[in-house]
Amino acid sequence: MDEVATLCNDVSLAVADSIKDLVGTQKGSEVVGMGADGTPSKFIDIAAEDAALEILASSGIDMKIVTEEKGHLTFGDAPEFTVVLDPLDGTYNATRDVPFYSVSIAIGDVNLTDIRYAEVYNLANGTNFTAAKNKGAFYNNKKIHVSHAAELDEFTVASYGYKDKSDVFKRLGRHVRRLRSFGSAALELSFVASGRLDAFVDLRSRLRIMDVAAGILIVKEAGGIVTDGHGQAPSGELNVTNRVDIVASNGMLHPVLEKTADVV
Ligand code: IPD
Ligand code: CA
Repeated sequence: MDEVATLCNDVSLAVADSIKDLVGTQKGSEVVGMGADGTPSKFIDIAAEDAALEILASSGIDMKIVTEEKGHLTFGDAPEFTVVLDPLDGTYNATRDVPFYSVSIAIGDVNLTDIRYAEVYNLANGTNFTAAKNKGAFYNNKKIHVSHAAELDEFTVASYGYKDKSDVFKRLGRHVRRLRSFGSAALELSFVASGRLDAFVDLRSRLRIMDVAAGILIVKEAGGIVTDGHGQAPSGELNVTNRVDIVASNGMLHPVLEKTADVV
């Protein structure tokens, strides 16, 4: 596991270096193509992904990779694991120099349910969140735990809504203390894990596996609960086009939160 942890952190550091002069620039925000996930790729996304892939390739380890821009890649004949990579989660923020964007890397096999190692690296301040299955979650190597808030009217919740899915703000807003939308799901999930937020709710069916694979393990290892909004563990093949719904929380009121956020 140490080898995997070092590899993930090396990827994060390389991405940080590759984008530092592109943050908040016109060049960084130029659309240069279409990503494998079906969304436009900006110059800064490609720079981040190229830097990440260079580190993964130079490790010499056989692996599969699922990544936002290039899609599915395989290095070698006998892949030891699958890397689920979002080289830059929070692209909009990075292009506008809003300091909330991250690298998200998860190590698994075939399904979102079998992720065994995760790192979310906060590119805006060089801190990181990590987790290994059954071994806990960490912020800069210090163990973290979800919050202890036990009343919905004390909760601070990061949430997303859009067009016909924007009612979630109204539904949650009636019951929780604060609503936020910071712009990097990977980092917001990590904030739930570390108790900075009490919950994260995104029921737009727009999140990709790459946005959440690492964050889900980090929340669970910090003692939180993550579901698909209907009581089930988020699942799905480690696939570039899959979309998921996520409710993550400190676990205190999870079913109540799911019910409050849902239309039905
Ligand atoms: C975005 C972030 C954001 C989420 C969007 C994603 P990107 O990732 O995860 O939190 O609300 O759905 O697209 O596109 O900036 O990597
Ligand atoms: Ca991205």
